[in-house]
Order: sequence, then structure tokens, then C-alpha cells
Amino acid sequence: MPKIVVLPHQDLCPEGAVLEAETGDTVLDVALRNGIAIEHACEKSCACTTCHVIIREGFDSLEESDELEDDMLDKAWGLEPESRLGCQAKVQMKIWLLKFRVTR
Ligand code: FES
Repeated sequence: MPKIVVLPHQDLCPEGAVLEAETGDTVLDVALRNGIAIEHACEKSCACTTCHVIIREGFDSLEESDELEDDMLDKAWGLEPESRLGCQAKVQMKIWLLKFRVTR
């Protein structure tokens, strides 16, 4: 089963966490299901950047972003090459580990 490592975040997850995901889950949904309250102002409709996360390991374990997500990411504060919108980044079964940090 794919694992997602949430790197420590002062407010949301001070100790960090290791979470289990199912294929097709988004990073945001896995976090929310486990009580890690990443912001999601547009309710996961790819219309904001509040769910911006940066993938530190396992970037290729996610389905590729589409044009809409890329356009929205261009507006994100602190954009990095391995940035994703948590609500759009879906886990694929073939990879087992993904590490990310929350940007807010
Ligand atoms: S919650 Fe708005 S883009 Fe993800």
C-alpha cells in the first residue's frame, strides 16, 4: 500500500506523520482523513492555491498534473519544480513512498 510521509509542520502536524493511501487518493484527501487540516479554500475544485504542497520524495509516484493545475500553480507563492496542488495530486499504486511538506 502506498505510504505518504508528511514532513513536520509547526501548526498542522508538529511531529510529522506516516499515512497510508489507496491508489487514486489525492494527497489532500489522505491528509484530511488523518486529521491534518491542510487548507482547501475552493473545496478541491482546482481554483485556488491553498492546498499547495511540495513533494520532497516520490514526485513520480503521482499522476501527472494537467494544464489547469499547472496554470493555477503558476500563481502559488513559493512555487518549486516539485510543487503540486494537494487536491489534484493523485497517488498511483506503483510507488510506495511520497514525502511532502505543506507550504502554509
Ligand atoms: S483546494 Fe483549491 S486548488 Fe486545491
